[in-house]
Amino acid sequence: MEVIVTENYQQMSQRAARIVAKAILAKPSLVLGLATGDTPRGMYRCLVSFYQEGLLDFSQVTTFNLDEYVGLDPYDSHSYHFYMQEELMGKINIRPENVHILLGIASDLLEECCQFEQSIERSGGIDLQVLGLGENGHIGFNEPGADWGSVTHLVKLTEETRKANSRFFSSWEEVPEKALTMGIKTIMQADRILLLVSGKNKGAALREALFGPVTPRVPASVLQLHPQVMVLVDQGTTQFEGS
Ligand code: F6R
Repeated sequence: MEVIVTENYQQMSQRAARIVAKAILAKPSLVLGLATGDTPRGMYRCLVSFYQEGLLDFSQVTTFNLDEYVGLDPYDSHSYHFYMQEELMGKINIRPENVHILLGIASDLLEECCQFEQSIERSGGIDLQVLGLGENGHIGFNEPGADWGSVTHLVKLTEETRKANSRFFSSWEEVPEKALTMGIKTIMQADRILLLVSGKNKGAALREALFGPVTPRVPASVLQLHPQVMVLVDQGTTQFEGS
């Protein structure tokens, strides 16, 4: 596992975008796994400017997003569909049919998860998976206690995660209680993983994920077992170095 501590958020974002860009240049039909949340916004901004400058072509790229809230329409401004459209997809030349985001309002959520897994398989598997880190050590929405053999599935979000994400909603009641997420097994099957960590509230989770025991209590600790992980840490993520 390679860990790089960057001076600030902007540097972390630029490095992350360069890693993704390099991967697309090396393989134009890259299969890219993506995350939402605050952490990757800067990376998406850089990728959009690479595209606008004519440096990157997304026309053959395929994407799979980690997760989506259950019950939110793709046009709902709190949905991850909406987030991805705003931050990236609406600003680059990716083909809509190559963008895969779980549908949180599917009538059959289990079937939705199965089809998502099948699409990943059909695409040949994820080449590079971008991840963020939850304050409680979650990756995707695989919460503490997650089953490591899990593929894409329905989860009940913990109170901690609902609290952390309530900043995006105007009331507590609006914060979804459930989500669909790639499983730990799905994530671990990616060829390469890029974990982005930013925020003062992430220090403890990061320390446990990188240096603590490998345990389902800290889902991100499973990454210690993956052969190709790069971690980019914004130095503002306090308590990391003092561990
Ligand atoms: C989002 C996701 C989550 C976030 C994590 C960190 O698609 O899978 O695991 O990456 O909750 O969120 P932020 O970046 O908002 O701190």
